[in-house]
Amino acid sequence: MNLPLNSILCGDCFDLIRTIPSNSINLVITSPPYFQQRDYGGGIGNEKTVSEYLEILLALMAECVRVIKDDGNIVFNLGDKYEDSSLLLVPHQFALEVVRRCPLKLVNLITWVKRNPTPRQFKRRLVSSTEPFFHFVKSDQYYYDMDSFMANERPRKERNGADTRVGTRYFELIEQSNLTPEQKQLGRQKLIEVIQEVKAGKIEGFRMKIAGIHAEPFGGQAGGRQIQLDKNGFTIIRIYGNPIKRDVIEMSVESVKGSNHPAMYPVALVKEFLLLLTQENDVVLDPFMGSGSTAVACKQTKRHYIGFDLNPEYCAFAEKRLQEIIPHPPLLF
Ligand SMILES: C[S@@+](CC[C@H](N)C(=O)[O-])C[C@H]1O[C@@H](n2cnc3c(N)ncnc32)[C@H](O)[C@@H]1O
Repeated sequence: MNLPLNSILCGDCFDLIRTIPSNSINLVITSPPYFQQRDYGGGIGNEKTVSEYLEILLALMAECVRVIKDDGNIVFNLGDKYEDSSLLLVPHQFALEVVRRCPLKLVNLITWVKRNPTPRQFKRRLVSSTEPFFHFVKSDQYYYDMDSFMANERPRKERNGADTRVGTRYFELIEQSNLTPEQKQLGRQKLIEVIQEVKAGKIEGFRMKIAGIHAEPFGGQAGGRQIQLDKNGFTIIRIYGNPIKRDVIEMSVESVKGSNHPAMYPVALVKEFLLLLTQENDVVLDPFMGSGSTAVACKQTKRHYIGFDLNPEYCAFAEKRLQEIIPHPPLLF
């Protein structure tokens, strides 16, 4: 059976996922309705007990395991619930049951830190401003592209690349300096090289110190820098920043014009997972597609999407939203 690539199917995900062939999906990424939080006009989420709710989600998880490829990934985002002023830890109960009952490993719990949580202040508790994303895999051979993820981690690449004036003031300062013609030539050459490094996102930035312009000596601890300054008439200090990718994603809750969906996750957040866990033309399934955030992220990053949602209004909105995104490249399937 052919995959319904790049379509959003309106219906019950428990029925629709059964039509997806085994081992055909690279990534399942989704955010199911949270336990007793909202009524989306039917569907799951308003079961009487947490265990009833979890049983339903676990049945879906079994299908997710079936449809993903052996090197595939599964990412589930869930929110928590207070009952009688006490947190139920529903997301954590879910993750524990998944690893207990499904042939899956839990690679990470990635925390989405909301920069703009709903501004409600409680008298005797703090405002919840995080949600977990659980990353599960079927085998240790799961697809993982840390390089592409890290490139995205450094938006400075784009920013610096777009800034055509980066470091240009130093060219003028080299000319104004008392360096010898040879020193000036070397200075210009090294300056061009370091500007390229910034534009390529390899370093955060740099400082150039030119003798006579930035006159102050480095002092006793400078060592090699002072030697470079004495010999070449300049020295360049590279700023590397901190490239460690942590299990935290800080991002604001999005609002999209015209959306009537109350619980959208940010497209940029989905893109982070797409870059880490898939490559171009891979197939991504979201069984609870809602307003289409996963599909939008896929279209923007040249991945194929398949989405389900029970609510026809959300399906229609998602389709409309997708029409405004730059078209997907020709299908290779
Ligand atoms: C938390 S929302 C997903 C929001 C989505 N991530 C977004 O960014 O818009 C959960 C969605 O699941 C849908 N839903 C609930 N039960 C369903 C079911 N059995 N089958 C398919 N969709 C269902 C709801 O209509 C709702 O849009």
